[in-house]
Amino acid sequence: KTSDFQHMIDAHSLAANFYSHLLLNTVEGEKALYYLEQRGFSRDLIEKYGIGWSLDDREVLTQLLQRKKFEMKEMERAGLCVMKNDGTGYFDRFRGRIMFPLHDDNGNVVAFSGRVLSDSKEEAKYLNSPETPIFEKSRLLYNFHHARLNVRKTGKVILFEGFMDTIAAEKAGIMNSVAVMGTSLSDTHLTKLKRIANQLIICCDGDNAGWEAAKRFALLAAQKGLDAQIALLPGKMDPDEYISINGGEAFTEKVLGNPYSYMSFIMAYYKRSKNLSHENDVLQYIHEVIEELATKVSPVERDLMIRQLSTETGVSSNALNEQIIKKVGQQA
Ligand code: CTP
Ligand code: MN
Ligand code: MN
Ligand code: MN
Ligand code: MN
Repeated sequence: KTSDFQHMIDAHSLAANFYSHLLLNTVEGEKALYYLEQRGFSRDLIEKYGIGWSLDDREVLTQLLQRKKFEMKEMERAGLCVMKNDGTGYFDRFRGRIMFPLHDDNGNVVAFSGRVLSDSKEEAKYLNSPETPIFEKSRLLYNFHHARLNVRKTGKVILFEGFMDTIAAEKAGIMNSVAVMGTSLSDTHLTKLKRIANQLIICCDGDNAGWEAAKRFALLAAQKGLDAQIALLPGKMDPDEYISINGGEAFTEKVLGNPYSYMSFIMAYYKRSKNLSHENDVLQYIHEVIEELATKVSPVERDLMIRQLSTETGVSSNALNEQIIKKVGQQA
């Protein structure tokens, strides 16, 4: 029923305002506010993204929703409340976390992601709303509603792994970025992006998980016919860390300004774990790159990459070409 959707959206809007009030105007929110300030969040940024704080209390939000006559069964389905084990009532899903509202394409709050204040091994860093009638993970892109116009204007969209990176990018004046919530990129996400952009820059974290995600994202984007490039970060930094250490200008110029094509990214990807002064590594590297060259690349790009590969490994272009022809033959 449409009206149930509306109840859930109204409840999220109430919750978001409540969390924001707790963060900005109460003593209980001070620690969280300090944490955000340490991470470079200005008051404007906190307000623009509607960031808040959920008290370390089992039922403040539940009580507020009850006072406002929301139906508790429905609030459970909306992911805001959880039923007690003995079935005697409900408690808040989010407690003692910094609350990041997740918006749908129209700017309605439809879910939350809550971050713990201190990274520990016992508790997951982020707790997200479950899938609900108003929140589908595979559809939602963080910041889509803000970025959409800027993406249309520039034809270009930057894709991050985490919403903290999108918020950091805004500090650097980058207004056309979105983020997936973690490491899965869906066909629906890509369809949405393709409708408003013709160029995609994938900028994942510099750790192993980030490299793997970038590879997956790049392949999916290519299959979707999107012109995708990959921006790489030095070390294991993520975009947010890079920006706070090196500044927004460096990020814009050095990282986003020098994106890799799919194929040069793939070569960097395979080279990463190898030492090309070892013969075994060289052979393995050639094998992996040729596998890609034989299937996923245009003849012109193939030619360019063969030359690069030849320079890197000392193997002649002719020999590399023969290998590829053999490979293509096997697959035909
Ligand atoms: N994520 C999650 N649950 C976790 C860890 C991560 O849902 N336990 C999702 C979040 O949506 C997060 C994204 O994966 O935005 C990227 O994860 P990560 O790189 O670990 O987080 P950061 O964005 O770097 O967050 P922070 O800078 O606060 O550590
Ligand atoms: Mn209802
Ligand atoms: Mn990460
Ligand atoms: Mn990260
Ligand atoms: Mn981070």
